Amino acid sequence: MVKSSSIQLDSFELTLSEMENADLDALHALSLAVGWPHRAEDWQIVREMGRGVVARDAIGRVLGSAMWFDFAPDFTTIGMVITSPRLQMLGTGRWMMEHVLAQTGSRALGLNATRAAKRLYQSLGFRAEKLDYQCNGEAVSPPIVPLPPRTRLRALDQADLAEIATLDLVAYGADRMPVLTRLLNVSKGLALIRDGRTVAFSLCRRFGRGHVIGPVVATSDEEAIAVVRPHVADHVGSFLRIDTRQQAGAFPQFLAQSGLPVYDTVTSMSLRRAWLPEDGAQPGGGGPLIYGLASQALG
Ligand SMILES: CC(C)(COP(=O)(O)OP(=O)(O)OC[C@H]1O[C@@H](n2cnc3c(N)ncnc32)[C@H](O)[C@@H]1OP(=O)(O)O)[C@@H](O)C(=O)NCCC(=O)NCCS
Repeated sequence: MVKSSSIQLDSFELTLSEMENADLDALHALSLAVGWPHRAEDWQIVREMGRGVVARDAIGRVLGSAMWFDFAPDFTTIGMVITSPRLQMLGTGRWMMEHVLAQTGSRALGLNATRAAKRLYQSLGFRAEKLDYQCNGEAVSPPIVPLPPRTRLRALDQADLAEIATLDLVAYGADRMPVLTRLLNVSKGLALIRDGRTVAFSLCRRFGRGHVIGPVVATSDEEAIAVVRPHVADHVGSFLRIDTRQQAGAFPQFLAQSGLPVYDTVTSMSLRRAWLPEDGAQPGGGGPLIYGLASQALG
């Protein structure tokens, strides 16, 4: 008897459950399946900082994920939204996002959308604000740039947390103390000091294929370069990444000259209220800005 060379399988049922119980290796396999660079350790860090759900099939395999991070009573970012490739375009992403939106109530939301996800978020009411440039590559010896006048660099330690969190709050618009505390544990941090005060800072940690620099908070391109340059010099010859919304000017030029050209872009989007300052208008009137994201999920 000749058997058919094709078979029609029933689509199966997915169930949402809390991410905290999911196996890290299963999450890692999910992000690998969509070509993301996260290591299991990178998942561990984001999982500690937010809440999330996974979509499982009938035998418990993890085929989808979505997370949200409550930075303030009225502000949340969304990230780690993934549908396993074989289930894409069937409504799983929308279903997971509707669940996240229900969980986040009336809070203002921000996220960084990949090209694949932009249409989904737009149809849920999110508004595109700015592009976010993923700059990465094999770092090369960075150009020599003098420090801004009357400043010096020094290493950050736990005692600096309150001061950098205050700077970050002005730049980011929400209190990220828990994020900064967790990241400082696994990062090398630098502060730019003027008149005894921290005026800019940067963290650099292992991530994905190499290291990522972020967050970076500074008031000017010159200050941002000052706190980023030593990290580049530390990683010459190895893979380095920074995500920035600075499109033009000395800072992105410096990144390109350091072997970190733009590799890809995502779109920062918001729901319910604007997330990012308009171009030209700076939060805090000329105060500190986010020059490097902590990550695409955390903003
Ligand atoms: C983005 C992603 C989560 C969407 O998941 P999904 O389960 O395919 O989403 P849905 O089936 O619910 O589709 C939702 C909408 O997005 C559209 N869409 C899905 N994949 C798309 C793609 N690759 N390009 C353009 N649009 C796409 C669908 O057509 C649908 O639009 P419609 O409702 O107007 O028809 C999935 O493609 C994915 O995991 N991509 C890789 C990881 C990623 O980029 N995550 C987003 C992080 S911000």
